Amino acid sequence: MSLRMISKCSSLFGSVGTKELKRLRESLIPRHEPVLLLASFSQDASTDSTVCRSHELKLNQEKQTVAHMMERWRCRFESEGISEPKDSIELIMAHVLGTTKIDALKSQHQRELVEEEIQKLEQLGECRLSRMPVQYIIGEWDFRDLKLKLEPPIFIPRPETENFVDHVLQRIDCSKSPQRGLEIGCGSGAISLSLLHSVKNVIMIAIDTNPHACELTLRNARELALGENLILLNATLNKDAALEIKSECHNPKSHKNFAENLDFIVSNPPYIPTENIFKLQLEISLYEDIRALDGGEDGLKLIKPILKFASRRLKPGGFLLLEVDSSHPEKIKDLVRDLYANELSFDFTHKDFRDVDRFVEISKTV
Ligand SMILES: C[S@@+](CC[C@H](N)C(=O)[O-])C[C@H]1O[C@@H](n2cnc3c(N)ncnc32)[C@H](O)[C@@H]1O
Repeated sequence: MSLRMISKCSSLFGSVGTKELKRLRESLIPRHEPVLLLASFSQDASTDSTVCRSHELKLNQEKQTVAHMMERWRCRFESEGISEPKDSIELIMAHVLGTTKIDALKSQHQRELVEEEIQKLEQLGECRLSRMPVQYIIGEWDFRDLKLKLEPPIFIPRPETENFVDHVLQRIDCSKSPQRGLEIGCGSGAISLSLLHSVKNVIMIAIDTNPHACELTLRNARELALGENLILLNATLNKDAALEIKSECHNPKSHKNFAENLDFIVSNPPYIPTENIFKLQLEISLYEDIRALDGGEDGLKLIKPILKFASRRLKPGGFLLLEVDSSHPEKIKDLVRDLYANELSFDFTHKDFRDVDRFVEISKTV
């Protein structure tokens, strides 16, 4: 399967015709492929697909109302093994009707769709059949109190990361000001922008190796009017923990010495061990940037340089919070003890809302 082709399909809603999307999907997606849940959607109480088939025949002869079209697409999604078929079509229909509120759909159930809406629905429905995540189809997603613009292949923020931000907020000392934090791998900007939204006396330096992620973070920062205390760099944290700055994307107050004497460092790095990358659901492996996910052989490829970087660049009393794989906390504890016993101390492992060990908290001692 070609990620490039799928990405092309994903970014060209306007110019790729429905027939082309159908052909592309048929050539790329094995029909029997199991699909897992992507993110925060609730599990759908699905109905029997035989009921769907006979229902669809009937629906084809009926009016093209919102309710009928939603039922038709729900059945199609279900029969093609798309996860969360009901949530998927509700979100897509709401988008087609120009609302983000699922509740608003109910009042429009009997309204007939106009030709333009039917075509848009067809096109977006085909994208979902091609396993494109709904977040990319509708182009935005709620993260905590923020509505973020999203586009493939930039990583879709996960619900666990909302928990992660809670832990960061609990640890930031609001009595001292201003607090300077660095985020390594900002993606769409979810973490940094949430912190800037919640804490007034924080300056966030957000970096990402992917220039498109930086562009998206900047677009979100501007839309949300959160750019004032944001410094955004297209930069890579290298294996040897050197920060390679490629360009300064946003630095409204011309700050210098960005990444020294930091009060805190946060990161949701790529942490999936390489061998698990190809076991991911198609929604992820086809559409999301592999470099945002692949943590190397042990999943610690970026975590190791982050520890080294933190040991040098945090202020005494500063902290590092990481989102990691559930197998990582013990390994990270060992690394801190073996390599940085004089500079860092491993404080806590926190669980996410699924009760999985997910976040590690580390302090700079001297
Ligand atoms: C899992 S995503 C997290 C994105 C965002 N923070 C979130 O939680 O939604 C990891 C991000 O790290 C970036 N990244 C990967 N390796 C990097 C490196 N060596 N230096 C800087 N950023 C990196 C990727 O481009 C990706 O955007």
